[in-house]
Amino acid sequence: MPTPRLLQLHDTSGTDLAAEAASGLLRPQAAVSPKFFYDAQGSRLFDAITELTEYYPTRTEAAILAASGPAIAQAVRRCTGDHPVIVDLGAGNCAKGVGLFPLLAPRRYIAVDISANYVAAALAHLQREHPALDLVGVGLDFSSRLAMPPDLVGPQALVFYPGSSIGNFDRSGALALLRQVRDLSAGGALLIGVDLVKATAVLEAAYDDALGVTAAFNLNLLRHLNTLLGANFDVRQWRHVALFNRVESRIEMHLEARKAQVVEWPGGERRFAAGERIHTENSYKWTKDGFGDLLREAGFGAPQLWTDARDWFGLFLASG
Ligand code: AVJ
Repeated sequence: MPTPRLLQLHDTSGTDLAAEAASGLLRPQAAVSPKFFYDAQGSRLFDAITELTEYYPTRTEAAILAASGPAIAQAVRRCTGDHPVIVDLGAGNCAKGVGLFPLLAPRRYIAVDISANYVAAALAHLQREHPALDLVGVGLDFSSRLAMPPDLVGPQALVFYPGSSIGNFDRSGALALLRQVRDLSAGGALLIGVDLVKATAVLEAAYDDALGVTAAFNLNLLRHLNTLLGANFDVRQWRHVALFNRVESRIEMHLEARKAQVVEWPGGERRFAAGERIHTENSYKWTKDGFGDLLREAGFGAPQLWTDARDWFGLFLASG
């Protein structure tokens, strides 16, 4: 039985990450990238979010795939041919990517994630169930640049980017990533999950649930910064804020200081006034036409689209 190949394509020393986090905290409007949510605890809290009643994206996307899987697979094969190479962006525990195996019978599965360790564990487990499959784990922060050895991916690959993670990018960031995806797929296709604009109450409940799981997920970022930076955030002195900004068409998450305080770390400090916020995440919501236009601008042809009955979530298949 083969063993999964592992490629570490970015620096994991933590010093780059710590410097990035510190400079975000020192901006006039403090802001840190949502990638800092995902330490081990944060990854488990995100998994819990996906099971919340209020958090519809994960189950809606799964329902679309369950209902239209065979049609989607047929459309994918028209772009990639039989037995495609699948590149799974942000693969995590690989559960969503594995869901495609019965539909597409890939010849190679490349799981890309910022955490190579997390993916490595999932792939080792997977290899036992699929002894003949070529499995590759890639540790890569593709939010800065999506680049992989070209012979690894080959032509006509399927790039799979589920979960509406594209929502973390603003329009120009999303466009830059989609252009790189188009180059990477090399005449193949992109299958991407996108959360759609809907009523404010539905959106805000999904990011501020009654059980407080999303609040814990957001606040956990402060604990992660304490570890990463050696900072002294007192988590109890902060509260979770989530709001839909309809002008920007995005959910914004912030952490708001309950009282004035100074936070220190080796080599830096930041004073926060009572009510001052740290911006921790944007989650952009698209219209069907708006995302179609974005794909076209990135160089793809007119996409095929599958949605649920309420038009809450879209699965776009784009090629070209
Ligand atoms: C992983 C970026 C798709 O924006 O819905 C969930 C992250 N943040 N609840 C999203 C998230 C708060 C999630 N993405």
